[in-house]
Order: sequence, then structure tokens, then C-alpha cells
Amino acid sequence: MDIVLSGIRPTGHLHLGNYFGALKNFVKIQDTHKCFFFIADLHSLTTHPHPEDFHNSVKTILCEYLAAGLSPEKSALYIQSDVPEISELFVLLNMLAYKGEMERTAAFKDKVRKNPENVNTGLLTYPVLMASDILIHRAKYVPVGKDQEQHLEIARLLARRFNNMYGCEVFPEPQAFNFGSDLLKVPGLDGSGKMGKSEGNGIYLYEDDKSITKKVMRAVTDSGPTEPDSPKPEVIENLFTLMRLVSEPSTIQYFEDKWNDCSIRYGDLKKQLAADICATVAPIRERIDAIAADEKYLGEVVALGRDKARESAAATLALAREAVGFRKF
Ligand code: TRP
Repeated sequence: MDIVLSGIRPTGHLHLGNYFGALKNFVKIQDTHKCFFFIADLHSLTTHPHPEDFHNSVKTILCEYLAAGLSPEKSALYIQSDVPEISELFVLLNMLAYKGEMERTAAFKDKVRKNPENVNTGLLTYPVLMASDILIHRAKYVPVGKDQEQHLEIARLLARRFNNMYGCEVFPEPQAFNFGSDLLKVPGLDGSGKMGKSEGNGIYLYEDDKSITKKVMRAVTDSGPTEPDSPKPEVIENLFTLMRLVSEPSTIQYFEDKWNDCSIRYGDLKKQLAADICATVAPIRERIDAIAADEKYLGEVVALGRDKARESAAATLALAREAVGFRKF
């Protein structure tokens, strides 16, 4: 079975973009691939989260991952800082990562521009830590968005460089994993493009009906179609795209017909969309609450994930240590 790996930094709640864009696919590939899903808490330290809040941020993602259907039995579901082998590989790989290369990374330059007061070297070597996450399990596939492609390229570069430098084949080069036709871009409700955390246009998995409905009813629309069968402007297409994710085919067809004969009322469409989003989210929200209340279960999940991840990581690290020339006395 091919290995798939994905990490997420614990910052806030998951939104529908995370859910339909990635998570639903993660849930599926658990049956066909050997999956590693982890919470990248070490990466989060680059922005100095408050120690009092940090644990809860990790718990939030863990509960939401579980509620969405990630399986601690099928996959390795773990917390990055529970696997010290990652940090040791990070040290080894840092010797092969050149300062200029790291400085030229788009994400680094972006962070420097946005937070010039916090240009720590953890930020500079962020791609090396990410490469360690991936290479420690010799993962073949990493599902990444556009913003992480360059980081994946650096992981490939470091894998190649390590193998060449030490004349070995310890690390395969990881590839981007493409969900193909299943890859969905989930739009926001503000007409600004995709749903995202930093865009502030998200509908969250952990959000109550009232708040969801309010957001949907406020979604940007236009003055309506004037000619039958006209193409939809982007803001309207976005509403239909969301509808295709959560509504019945007959409901979608109903509003398509209304659009096409110019009798559509956006208020009706939004009300239906809001109801269907709520119906999708409510059971997940209830599962999140139940899981979050079960500390014993969470403890078991984390321990199981840690054991699986460490077993895999230790095997790779032993090969890497051997390759660089560490020998037993
Ligand atoms: N950098 C990724 C992000 O911000 C998170 C991440 C850390 C990651 N390590 C990873 C993703 C390894 C994939 C593989 O989204």
C-alpha cells in the first residue's frame, strides 16, 4: 500500500473548505492507502502560540478530524511533537539545506513581509521540518494545496541530496497527491474566491445553525438574471457550487430551472442552502462535542497514533543514522 501523509497546523476550527476539499477524501483513502495524518504543533511554535491555549488548539483539530471520520485504527493519527524522531531527522536534514534556498522560499518571504518583527530561524527552516515530517515515513504521496507545492519541492530536493551525499536510497521523493476529479474548490460567500481561514469567509464544522444561517443569508448576490438560460456570474455560481456539496439533486435542479427561466428568488435559494448546510454540519458538530468530552478516548487515540508513528519513524531514522555514519560503540 502506498503511503499518504498530511499535516495541519492547529490554528482554529476546520471549515467547509477543509471538509469538502480534503477531509472527505482523506476519509476515503484510509481504505486504500497507508495514511499518516498529524497535527503540526511544532510548526505552530513559529508564531509563538500562548502555552495556555496551545493544548486546546491541538485538541480542537483532533476532535474535528475524528468527528469528520478519520479513523485512529485505519490510519496513524498523531501529534507531531509526540514523535521525537522527526526532530532528530530535522537536525540531519538541516545540514543539507542551504540558507539561500530557504530565504528564497515564497512562504518565507511572505512571512518576512507580514511579520518583520518575528523572523525567527524556525520560520526559515520551516520547509526542512516539513520535509522531515514527510521523509520520516518515506511517504510517497502528500496531498497539498498550491501554497505548499514549493515546500514539497524542497522535501524532494532534500531527499535527493541526502541519497546522493551518502550514497544510499533511504528516501524516496514524495509526490503531490491529486484527488483528481474529486478535488473541489469550495468558494466563500463573499464573492472573493475560495473559502479560507485567512479570508475570514468560512463556515465552520463547529458552528451553530443560527450563525450558519446568518452567514448564508448575507452572501453576496446580484440583481438577478434578465435573460433566460444566461450564464451565472461568479457570486451566483458560488451558491450553486455550495448547493452541489450539500443539497439533493432535485433541489439543485429546482433552482437551476428557476435561474434559467428568470424566476429565481435568492432569498429562497439561500434559505434552502442554509438548511442543507446545517443538516450536513449538525451531526458532525454533535460528534465533536461528544468526542471532546471523552478525555479517556482522546488519550487512547493519541497514544495509539504516537505508537504507530514512532514505529515507522524509528525504522527510517535508523537507516538515516547509519547512512550519515553514526556507529555503535
Ligand atoms: N505546512 C503545512 C500547512 O501549513 C502543514 C504541514 C506541516 C504539512 N508538515 C506537513 C503538510 C507535512 C503536509 C505534509 O498547511
